[in-house]
Amino acid sequence: MSNWNDMTDWMNVLPPSRPTVVELERIAEKLKTIDKEKAVAILGSTPEFCDLLADFGFERIVAFDKSREYHNKMCRVMTQPDKVRLIGGDWLSSLENPHLRVWDKKFALILSDLTMGNVDYRHRAEFYQLIAGNLEPDGGMFIDKVLCHDRPHLKLADLFAKYEKLPFNLQTLNHFSSEVLFCSELLEKNQKVESTKFYEIIAKEAWDAGRNPKIHKFLTNCNLITPKGFTWYYGKPWDELKDEYEKPFSKSEFVQDTDEQSPYYLRGRQYFHTLEIE
Ligand SMILES: C[S@@+](CC[C@H](N)C(=O)[O-])C[C@H]1O[C@@H](n2cnc3c(N)ncnc32)[C@H](O)[C@@H]1O
Repeated sequence: MSNWNDMTDWMNVLPPSRPTVVELERIAEKLKTIDKEKAVAILGSTPEFCDLLADFGFERIVAFDKSREYHNKMCRVMTQPDKVRLIGGDWLSSLENPHLRVWDKKFALILSDLTMGNVDYRHRAEFYQLIAGNLEPDGGMFIDKVLCHDRPHLKLADLFAKYEKLPFNLQTLNHFSSEVLFCSELLEKNQKVESTKFYEIIAKEAWDAGRNPKIHKFLTNCNLITPKGFTWYYGKPWDELKDEYEKPFSKSEFVQDTDEQSPYYLRGRQYFHTLEIE
């Protein structure tokens, strides 16, 4: 299982592996409609979300994160870490009755950025049921960025040809990691990202194809963004996942990533789920 304590220097990681400005602006529009006395939560310790909620004046902010060490690292990135309370443990247990540990309140809002891949396919239905169960039954909102595989995976040969022509810098390195590890044909076999195994396969593929040193450069530095030893559950067709994902919520709307420069172009979605009492 991925140990987020081993995650690299998060400041090397760029959107869309972190919230984009446009995504944060859309969330800000929703925050204007929520009473600042209400309890709100984040899955993980996304510093952009903690700052946004604190900037809006929310006083009851919870971060659900199984890695206290990683959370503390993110507190050093946040501007107002003292405003955030950590609930430790795996989401599948920490989302069971968190109210007993903080405030006897359901959350008006839960925010999430690319958490889906951290949860095994077998536990997805339970995970989203738990999230819905923690929201205010009338008006509670879950805003979630997801990576959907609803189109053919990218070919490694095409990606090598693309990155050979690109300058090597932190942005292209981030895009290489996102496209090659999270959107390519490497996902076909097991429908999951296994970073160590993927790096071995890419090295062999690139070598066999006599690729230029630029691909070698991207490859040997990619672990600055995505370390070895990590697993994410991605690659299963979205059609097989969509229903159990949306089912716990009354309404599910999404905005697709339409930025052609984004490595998650058309694959990234920002979902806005709400609960409503009929
Ligand atoms: C939210 S995800 C992805 C990162 C996200 N894109 C961001 O910008 O914050 C990573 C975070 O979730 C936490 N995490 C991952 N799997 C978890 C699990 N099963 N239960 C609780 N926390 C988990 C990690 O410790 C880390 O803080």
